[in-house]
Amino acid sequence: MQELIGVGNTVKEMKKRILQYAQCNAEVLIEGDTGVGKGVCAKLIHKNSSMHRGPFIAVNCGSISKGLVSSELFGHVKGAFTGASDNHKGYIQRARNGTLFLDEIGEMPLDAQGHLLHFLESKEVTSVGSDRVIEVDCRVITATNVNLKEAILNKTFRSDLFYRLNVLPLTIPTLRERVDDILPLANFFLVSHSSGRSLRFSVDAVECLNNYAWPGNVRELKNVIRRAIVLAESEVIYPCDFALDSNSATERSNPANLKSKYIEQVILTHRYNISAAAKSLGISRPTLYRLMKKHNIRLLQ
Ligand SMILES: Nc1ncnc2c1ncn2[C@@H]1O[C@H](COP(=O)(O)OP(=O)(O)OP(=O)(O)O)[C@@H](O)[C@H]1O
Ligand SMILES: [Mg+2]
Repeated sequence: MQELIGVGNTVKEMKKRILQYAQCNAEVLIEGDTGVGKGVCAKLIHKNSSMHRGPFIAVNCGSISKGLVSSELFGHVKGAFTGASDNHKGYIQRARNGTLFLDEIGEMPLDAQGHLLHFLESKEVTSVGSDRVIEVDCRVITATNVNLKEAILNKTFRSDLFYRLNVLPLTIPTLRERVDDILPLANFFLVSHSSGRSLRFSVDAVECLNNYAWPGNVRELKNVIRRAIVLAESEVIYPCDFALDSNSATERSNPANLKSKYIEQVILTHRYNISAAAKSLGISRPTLYRLMKKHNIRLLQ
């Protein structure tokens, strides 16, 4: 399973669960913050399952307008409502013999939740405006970044549906909770997005990645690395190339300026010991001298 990057026990446990869950067709409920990898896990369960030759249909329940959820899921027949100019196959039918991945299930309106529960119990769908019952065999995986137990208390989510969906639970911790995975993921994204350029992180850059809070989890890390690849002026990536929120807005707007300031600061921290400063930056002494010349950084005598 190459796609799930990470070395910590959490990822090991996730991989084990994914392979176990792939062996059967029961419903899986994946819980975790935004960007932790819920979509990746759903796809891996599908890929490793007996349904892998069938379709993987991903539906974001939060992005369908409320009134259309049932017709998008179950389909509709021509003339079922104003604007239904043709027969329309719903997502469930399109996922036949494959996997239906319902993302942001907590956003599903209550009436559609009732219909979904009925489908899960009967494996039958009826298109909106039709009375023909169609049998559909597909595996259902759902994901949520809201706490569904709270949604049940707030009466926005049906408890019977929750128990029906939560047969096989998979909870993915935030990136902050699995610091061991940050660097392997960062290196993976660096290699995958640097189009053959051989780039590496400076010692401080690694420290910066490990210390940052990553509120947007793996998705944020991926995008920060992609940005750093663009901003990097040499083969070494420095903390300033990440342009993270901890940097001030003005510094962020001018990465070149930030870079020279950063180099100056590191030299100062190492009390003008160029060898030590170069080591900390992850570059050679001649490269540091070259950068100092370029940025007009002079040593105090
Ligand atoms: N362990 C991992 N290994 C490799 N890539 C990962 C991993 N986890 C996440 N990613 C990548 O991070 C990005 C976000 O992952 P994904 O879309 O699966 O998150 P999510 O939990 O579904 O987010 P959301 O709640 O916003 O839907 C994707 O580009 C995905 O490829
Ligand atoms: Mg997702």
